[in-house]
Amino acid sequence: MGFKESSTKENLVRAFAEICQDNARLGFIIKKAKNENFAFIALELEQMQKNKMAHATIIYELMLEYLEKTNDNVCIESGYPFESQSLSASIRDYGELEQYKAKNTFKHFEKIARDEGFNKVADIFKAITFVNDNNAKKLFYLADRFDNKTLYKSKERVLWECSNCGYADESKAAWDNCPLCNYPKGYVKFNLQMKKD
Ligand SMILES: [Fe+2]
Repeated sequence: MGFKESSTKENLVRAFAEICQDNARLGFIIKKAKNENFAFIALELEQMQKNKMAHATIIYELMLEYLEKTNDNVCIESGYPFESQSLSASIRDYGELEQYKAKNTFKHFEKIARDEGFNKVADIFKAITFVNDNNAKKLFYLADRFDNKTLYKSKERVLWECSNCGYADESKAAWDNCPLCNYPKGYVKFNLQMKKD
């Protein structure tokens, strides 16, 4: 099957559109986090946003490669949810979008690409699925801590670290203002290690 007639071509365009949407949605959440003085959360989400830009570049370059230097304009339909939420609800909702893409959309794209013989594209979809799934786990973990009011508290003594100056101290709760640089609590780092299912 030729690329131009394939469903994989349309799915690459869908993936590109999804990732561009992700970039904007993350930007909205980052703005919200900054406005509410959650500087470290904004920093983590900015890293996620950079990863999305890398994915968009990979997909775009794949399209150009398969179109063999011919120009094309592809029309697609897609879903565009519009919601206004608190910071923690926005994080959870975005986590659900990432999880849906990992478990459904990109998995489906991968299978079709494999069936149509575009294994290189299928492998890229598979790898992006891993990142989306990892993002979803991090975002749910973060939203849970927000909802449980345990962002800066722990039952056990843990190491808290300031993302501005690097000051660190072990205790059951983070400081209100960093003892070294005086930056507020929002700069305290979280360990967003991927949680196992
Ligand atoms: Fe500090």
